[in-house]
Amino acid sequence: MSPDDNPAGAANAAATADPPLFYARHVFMCTNVRPDGHPRGCCKAKDSERLRNYMKARAKELGLKDVRINTAGCLERCELGPSMVIYPEGVWYSPKTTADIDEILKTHLVEGGRVPHLMMRPGDDPPKKGKD
Ligand code: FES
Repeated sequence: MSPDDNPAGAANAAATADPPLFYARHVFMCTNVRPDGHPRGCCKAKDSERLRNYMKARAKELGLKDVRINTAGCLERCELGPSMVIYPEGVWYSPKTTADIDEILKTHLVEGGRVPHLMMRPGDDPPKKGKD
């Protein structure tokens, strides 16, 4: 049955469909900070704020359209951080250097590929050692 055969069904499907994306890619980088000595550590202590700022500036220099790079609070992958996730793909990365950021920008955001050696995967997480 086509939508022409069932206009009410087509209208209902349109009403319940997801709206278009605001951005082709939305990057979230954790910059959460915890006190020194916290058992889980934090991404801020792993230079995430500088890396996020670098990524934002480089994305602008590269003229990436439809890409938004945002700061995030704790993404619950603290021990693996600095933690980054890119949507809509839901691919997680742990970039440790500006060279890692450059690789993610070029390979993932520009070319649409993936950077497997920087990815986090379910099951990578070590046991949590302390409170959030
Ligand atoms: S502090 Fe960054 S993921 Fe938890």
